[in-house]
Amino acid sequence: MAENIYPIYDKMMSRSDKENLLRQRGVLVWFTGLSGSGKSTVALGLERELHSRGILCRILDGDNIRAGINNNLGFSAEDRTENIRRIAEIGKLFVQTGVVTLACFVSPTRDIRRMAREIVGGEDFLEVFVSTPIEECERRDVKGLYARARRGEVKDFTGVSAPFEAPLSPDLDIDTSVLSLQESVDKVLQLILAKSKL
Ligand code: ADX
Repeated sequence: MAENIYPIYDKMMSRSDKENLLRQRGVLVWFTGLSGSGKSTVALGLERELHSRGILCRILDGDNIRAGINNNLGFSAEDRTENIRRIAEIGKLFVQTGVVTLACFVSPTRDIRRMAREIVGGEDFLEVFVSTPIEECERRDVKGLYARARRGEVKDFTGVSAPFEAPLSPDLDIDTSVLSLQESVDKVLQLILAKSKL
């Protein structure tokens, strides 16, 4: 635990000062699902929809976070937990600044997602399960990682050689093999618009 740390939170301007400035409420949407399920694609569509409605948002996703702040982490269970812990803490800072935050991470276990929710706070956390079946994710294989995982060249690959536990009661379930991109975006958008109103 941190010692000799003196928080200045009580001197900082409040979350509601920020939210009033932005005229929106901060909320974090946590997208979970297999690699290639469409999490980031839906988030990119949402970003444009939100932006055009004057709502400030920020996407956090596996590829950008793992290239930067989390570039010392791999895919062991321990590293994934640390990955998600840091992301949830970053997400919380955005939410407390009033920003609509779209977090796109495989986050494969119920425990890991529970931790994320506890860090961010249940009031500010919406869970969206991108439930596209593995057969479709593997057929897309945008990054070629499924093929490499099947050949044993990528170890602990989620869905192939590492587990994925589906959420039991997500706020929303979208299967991008059934819905069009716009339909998926619209469903999440409705959820966000209801939650991000001041
Ligand atoms: S998480 O499990 O810790 O939440 P995260 O979402 O940050 O994962 O990163 C997943 C992305 O990393 C995948 O979309 C894929 O591109 C890449 N990746 C590389 N190796 C693995 C692996 N072993 N398992 C899952 N994803 C991997």
